[in-house]
Amino acid sequence: MLQYANCWEDADLLLKYIGNMEGKRVLSISSGGENSLSLLSRHPALLVVVDKNPVQLFVFEFKKAAMRALEREEFLAFLGFSASRNRLRTYGLIRGGLGTPARAYWDGQRRRIEAGIIHAGRVARRLRLFSRLGRPLIHNAARSRELMAPKSEADQAALFREIWDNRRWRAMGRMLFSKPAIYMVTPDRDFFKYYKGDVSAYLLEKTARHLSSVTAQQNHILHYFLFGHFGHLIPHFAREGNYQTIKANLAAVATHEGLVETALPRFGKFDGFNLSNIFEYTTQDSFKAVAEALAAGASPAARFTYWNIVLPRKLSDAAPDAFENVLDTDLDRTVPDKGWIYFRFLVDLRRPGSPGLGGKMTSRAKSLKGKTCMVTGATSRNREATVIELARMLEGMGVTANALHF
Ligand SMILES: C[S@@+](CC[C@H](N)C(=O)[O-])C[C@H]1O[C@@H](n2cnc3c(N)ncnc32)[C@H](O)[C@@H]1O
Repeated sequence: MLQYANCWEDADLLLKYIGNMEGKRVLSISSGGENSLSLLSRHPALLVVVDKNPVQLFVFEFKKAAMRALEREEFLAFLGFSASRNRLRTYGLIRGGLGTPARAYWDGQRRRIEAGIIHAGRVARRLRLFSRLGRPLIHNAARSRELMAPKSEADQAALFREIWDNRRWRAMGRMLFSKPAIYMVTPDRDFFKYYKGDVSAYLLEKTARHLSSVTAQQNHILHYFLFGHFGHLIPHFAREGNYQTIKANLAAVATHEGLVETALPRFGKFDGFNLSNIFEYTTQDSFKAVAEALAAGASPAARFTYWNIVLPRKLSDAAPDAFENVLDTDLDRTVPDKGWIYFRFLVDLRRPGSPGLGGKMTSRAKSLKGKTCMVTGATSRNREATVIELARMLEGMGVTANALHF
């Protein structure tokens, strides 16, 4: 299922905090694909785009193939940012740049291509529905434009407080942010499985804070929410300048279908991670296991960027020996996030150096130097991460180690 035709996450924030990735190895969750493309503007040596949902990788491939073949104006029209009457003809030009599974998928999606694929995802379709049917019941288009017009922080807050935040908005907002409505947008039944609070009150409050801030005025996500299109607010990857840089760096891309931890043994260690909000769907125990696997797949001082929507999932809490948190936007409220419904954006660093092997293991490892050995472990995911970590530590000591977990 095509869930995300766009990343509803703030690429400018991601790029600001992922650090210098020039010549580095970066792993990025695909989702709608464009935030991964944005990372190419940082000139990494390798960008591995990962998703457990193959259709999300097809979306990434579609945008990448279009970017490779088209000039920016044509690209914007083809994807649906601006008008076009020729999208199917353009598809004929780019489809040769797709891998066989992606081509087979997109060949069956002619209507979505014709309508512009950025409007095709389940989230985009629900947001458009709201902009057409829901939003006009609260405020008209002129008032919505006024909300996003340039003005001082004080005027923005006053407009929200005195005009926007009326009874209709609050009633509609509570409905819009209720669990059943959110399930209409995300089919993932597990989404709120581990959250027990009042979601709609919480999201309404977050929205109020955002709409009262100047960040709202330049927010392409908010524009889509209110009007059903991005207007002149183009996301980072397709902006003039960024587009050409990214296009020149497409050769650095590889893709991987599967859970994020399964990409680590395949590609080796990474220096930077864009993990979207993938931890939302995990119990605290399985989160800890994934955190350990990620630590094992990260080079010293690697940077991890990720979001939480409602659940507190912080790598440095789950594995404090391996991670150090350097940004938590819930604690530092001065950092604006255009994806305003996210509870927080986090940046963690892989602590340099791994936990030691211990004296007995170290002398055993020394005796195995130059040999090949097998490191095995039992079934729990926790143990699996430990086995991979152990194998990596042995490799660092000159032992060829294959991790085996069963
Ligand atoms: C976590 S979702 C959230 C999307 C985001 N909030 C947005 O609207 O842009 C992003 C993507 O992560 C993928 N995903 C979720 N958990 C994953 C995991 N553990 N490993 C790999 N991909 C995962 C989903 O298939 C989805 O395409």
